[in-house]
Amino acid sequence: MATILSTLQIPTYSALATQCPTLAFFLVAVGGFSVARFALKTLFVLLQTFVVSGNSLKKYGAGKGAWAVVTGASEGIGREYALQLAQKGFNVVVSARNASSLATLVSEIEAKSTGDRKVQAKAVTMDFSKLDDAAQWNNLHSELAGLDIGVLVNNAGKSYTYPEDFHASARKDMEDIVTININSVVRLTHMIIPGMVERKRGLIINMGSFSGVSVASPMLSTYAGTKAFLSSFSGSLAEEVRKKGIDVECVNTYFVVSNMSKIRRASALIPQPKAFVRSVLSKIALPGGALWTNRPGVVTPFWSHGLLDYVMNVIGWNMAFVRYTHSLHKDIRRRALRKLEREAKKQ
Ligand SMILES: NC(=O)c1ccc[n+]([C@@H]2O[C@H](COP(=O)([O-])OP(=O)(O)OC[C@H]3O[C@@H](n4cnc5c(N)ncnc54)[C@H](OP(=O)(O)O)[C@@H]3O)[C@@H](O)[C@H]2O)c1
Ligand SMILES: *[C@@H]1O[C@H](CO)[C@@H](O)[C@H](O)[C@H]1NC(C)=O
Ligand SMILES: *[C@@H]1O[C@H](CO)[C@@H](O)[C@H](O)[C@H]1NC(C)=O
Repeated sequence: MATILSTLQIPTYSALATQCPTLAFFLVAVGGFSVARFALKTLFVLLQTFVVSGNSLKKYGAGKGAWAVVTGASEGIGREYALQLAQKGFNVVVSARNASSLATLVSEIEAKSTGDRKVQAKAVTMDFSKLDDAAQWNNLHSELAGLDIGVLVNNAGKSYTYPEDFHASARKDMEDIVTININSVVRLTHMIIPGMVERKRGLIINMGSFSGVSVASPMLSTYAGTKAFLSSFSGSLAEEVRKKGIDVECVNTYFVVSNMSKIRRASALIPQPKAFVRSVLSKIALPGGALWTNRPGVVTPFWSHGLLDYVMNVIGWNMAFVRYTHSLHKDIRRRALRKLEREAKKQ
């Protein structure tokens, strides 16, 4: 070894330390700092993911007559947010297009809550793709007026039916995705946040996605762009209102079982909405897997999503993940088209 080093003329450490002590010290210091930083970061990610709990929901008025507003609550993840926030003692306003599933949810919430834990629930139907429908927005505004809103969950979202190149996508679909995932979130948050500032208490949860927050997503470009908006919006807004008692977070999410993901079977990496929402609500304001990854306001609370987010950041070779995502999306598209073909033949 020593002979190889001397033929290559790379000095050994002891030679370096005697001939050039300042440089040797510098190299050891840099190495030591990197190792310590890595170890500490890993330790904190593991602690936040598996040990520590987040802020108590009481901070936002749970059990004290405060309301939670949940969009996209008619099914999937949003429905779970509504059920679990009610269970924690919030009154809830649920919103989506499907009035009949919202009505079922409202009666379910009111039937489940009893005695001291009795909560109210109400439904407001909204089509968040219709920004210009003044009547529905005025109605929402008057339904929310006067409520002590402690929590806002911006969960309603639209994605692609299946991955597709941008140039081949329908303009209407692309514009609806932007309107629902961005414009309506901005409008609703702007409607609700003044009350939170006045009461000096509030929690705003924005539903992010690995597409856009963790990795660029070819063939879901518009969807990914809207989720990147939510990540940047959340980080900036969070710092503005931090001292006003309001927490804002963008929940970075890998796949969850739902109609949107079209995944029906849960696995270690793909939870049911119930387990997913339980992790979000028990880890409020803890970055978890997103800790120290230079994305303020982003949290990755579900354990396996957090570990994945963390490992992707450690590897740091983002382009490899982008290429992988692209080939995955080509494959999903191929299978979706084949399925549509089979269904067309059946009819
Ligand atoms: N599932 C995943 O793998 C995954 C991964 C990352 C992020 N996310 C995000 O998580 C959130 C919830 O997704 P999910 O998987 O629970 O999807 P989902 O089961 O398809 O539910 C979407 C919800 O949004 C509502 N919605 C859709 N378009 C709407 C519109 N124009 N106006 C009002 N409400 C509308 C739907 O209700 P109506 O049809 O009744 O309107 C439904 O309640 C989304 O923001 C999504 O981007 C999901
Ligand atoms: C998917 O949508 C159907 C019809 O709207 C609904 O009955 C079902 O519960 C949904 N599945 C999930 C996992 O939310
Ligand atoms: C609303 O949801 C119910 C129950 O999931 C479903 O059967 C119905 O088709 C939905 N209605 C619309 C308009 O999507």
